[in-house]
Amino acid sequence: MRGKFVTLEGVDGAGKSTHLDWIARRLQAAGKKVQVTREPGGTPLGEELRKLLLARSMHLETEALLMFAARREHLDKLILPALAAGSWVVSDRFTDATFAYQGGGRGLDLGRIETLEQWVHQGLQPDLTLVFDLSVEEGKRRRVAATSQPDRFEREDLDFFARVRAVYLARAERYPQRIRLIDASRTVEDIRKSLEDTILTLCQ
Ligand code: TMP
Repeated sequence: MRGKFVTLEGVDGAGKSTHLDWIARRLQAAGKKVQVTREPGGTPLGEELRKLLLARSMHLETEALLMFAARREHLDKLILPALAAGSWVVSDRFTDATFAYQGGGRGLDLGRIETLEQWVHQGLQPDLTLVFDLSVEEGKRRRVAATSQPDRFEREDLDFFARVRAVYLARAERYPQRIRLIDASRTVEDIRKSLEDTILTLCQ
């Protein structure tokens, strides 16, 4: 039986990485084989592209194309084979991040991103996407506390993150079956409690 594909999203600082391991462990406890991965990255070539993407400035279309180049590799080498073998795949970010960051943050036409999505995904969509939602001010406060050397995205200003957040919220409204908004301003324990039901439902 094909595994399920779960993605975690949100503005930098919203705490999704804190929840990633817990979600994977929770799924394993429910008897699932789980592959944890991330974007950009997840394959040796994807991790090389990640280094470039987080460090080098580039044209916004180059940035979007490299995100999708890394994703093509990720789908081919890891995501699709794992799902076909019955593993669940939990990815720290996927294509919603391209809509939010390159579309919302950088202002790239969303139609162009949809074209790339159709080309690269070939019909695949996550079974569940958790968007960890937080005010941009609180996101910044947490980023500053957690990172001494911010990357190219983490250095962006509050307006950039407000545009990123707005696209995540718009997508959550547009795809209510797939995307679940998580209020990330709560404590880790409260968030886990609310995730518990979602995960159990997905496992059925
Ligand atoms: P991370 O810090 O959550 O691992 O993500 C790395 C950065 O890459 C993050 O700031 C968001 C950004 N990103 C995009 O801009 N577009 C994308 O498609 C993806 C997957 C990530």
